[in-house]
Amino acid sequence: MKVQRKFYITTPIYYVNDQPHIGHAYTTILADVLARFHRARIGEEKVFFLTGLDEHGQKVQQAAEKRGLSPQQHCDDLFPRFKDLWKKLGIQYNDFIRTTETRHIKVVQHVLQKVYEAQDIYAAEYEGWYSVAEERFLTEKEKESGQFRDVKQLKERNWFFKMSKYQARLIEYIETHPEFIQPDHRRNEVLGFLRQPLGDLCISRPKSRLSWGIELPFDRDYVTYVWFDALLNYITVAGYNSNEKNFDKWWPADVHLIGKDILITHAVYWPTMLFSLGLPLPKTIFAHGWWLTGAAKMSKSLGNVVNPLDLIEQYGVDALRYYLMREMVLGQDANFTLEGFIKRYNSDLANDFGNLLNRVSGLISKNFGGIIPVRDELIQEDLEIKNVGENLNSNVHRLIGELRVNEAIEEVMSFIRMVNTYLEKQAPWKVAKVDLKRAETILYVSTEALRLSAVLLIPVMPEKSKTVLKILSALESKANWGELKPSTQLQSHPALFPRIEII
Ligand code: MSP
Repeated sequence: MKVQRKFYITTPIYYVNDQPHIGHAYTTILADVLARFHRARIGEEKVFFLTGLDEHGQKVQQAAEKRGLSPQQHCDDLFPRFKDLWKKLGIQYNDFIRTTETRHIKVVQHVLQKVYEAQDIYAAEYEGWYSVAEERFLTEKEKESGQFRDVKQLKERNWFFKMSKYQARLIEYIETHPEFIQPDHRRNEVLGFLRQPLGDLCISRPKSRLSWGIELPFDRDYVTYVWFDALLNYITVAGYNSNEKNFDKWWPADVHLIGKDILITHAVYWPTMLFSLGLPLPKTIFAHGWWLTGAAKMSKSLGNVVNPLDLIEQYGVDALRYYLMREMVLGQDANFTLEGFIKRYNSDLANDFGNLLNRVSGLISKNFGGIIPVRDELIQEDLEIKNVGENLNSNVHRLIGELRVNEAIEEVMSFIRMVNTYLEKQAPWKVAKVDLKRAETILYVSTEALRLSAVLLIPVMPEKSKTVLKILSALESKANWGELKPSTQLQSHPALFPRIEII
């Protein structure tokens, strides 16, 4: 496997017009899981994980007005809710950007001036359909589709970015870089969009209509269109125009994680902006699907519609992280149902992972006074486990490298199931009565498999996996087979994932 030099991953920056919800939580957990896997493989200092808030624009201004607050007060008030939720969800980001910070405003204004001087920005009178809800001008086709709310005709002088100039170059880039837009069907969607002539991008809003934004450095009557401002966050934090050494190290980003609804802004607007600046494009823009959580999707038989984030209080943060990561095939939509959550919890976490710990620790306590046994000669059945165990780390990391997170998790879970079956067949509780050495080996192999699985599950379920490793007095960093230290005393513990009983 090729060893990466560094890994820079980003989430979208979220609008502060609302409370954080499952959509925000999902992308952020996903980025956290990927960042943690990469840290484990290439080292802490080589991974950079960025998230943050998109604080400008009409949506935020309107949300603030509704609450009778100034936009800045409104943002300052909502910011801790995001920060607190990330803390609760165990998110280990390296930086958290707010677009109202000076460091970002400086970069946006610098970029605007630079692109203006390069003559990629011009002023023009524009008349067209404008969606207030979407905060942008619509094409005739979009207007006719009837998909947009609050559409009105607007005639205005504005500033435009010459996006059309880069259309051919972008198409060529996408066609020659298959890893750039993923999954494949999203790349095709973007190429389809680019088959139509690409217009120029209106990047200003007159202050008379919207005052909450970053002032254009070359025309003080206007503020910057929120997307032109927001997308630049990815280079602000990397050190663009402020810290060359950092910027060289981190840019281009390795993965921009986004939801499918913000594909065009990321896969069309953003690359053309980077072309104009003469900067390399991010390696991969990955658009994931949506969680469908409507009332109809929630379990009727179980009663209430739940806010997925409320499940944290009841079942713990790791169970939610696991469900979100295991259930969604990256790139497709998924249904969030309470029934589905409980089913996964009981089968994968209580019955498979939790049960393996219970069995192993129960048997070791009963037969060997709680001391992890020393292994003897391995027989064929043990070697089968060992063989899978020896390849597990590299298999998991290969899948993670390909952004196949649910499959990477399944790799570990199926190993755990294999070990449970092995235990049943080998029946060490019976063997112990006749051949203590053989029973010791079976339990050594099972415990080692449990240890290895826990190490590889840390990025997904940091708390519970670390609990398992504590019980085994094992290190968090050893992802190779054979690292279990025999003769150590097991720590006592409550059930890892108590079954959820449905009454
Ligand atoms: N501020 C912009 C992003 C700017 S990035 C330079 C924005 N913010 S948002 O808060 O509206 O949405 C953020 C993300 O949440 C998007 O990627 C969107 O796809 C995601 N989700 C919102 N609801 C979702 C689900 N129900 N499921 C999964 N993700 C969804 O857009």
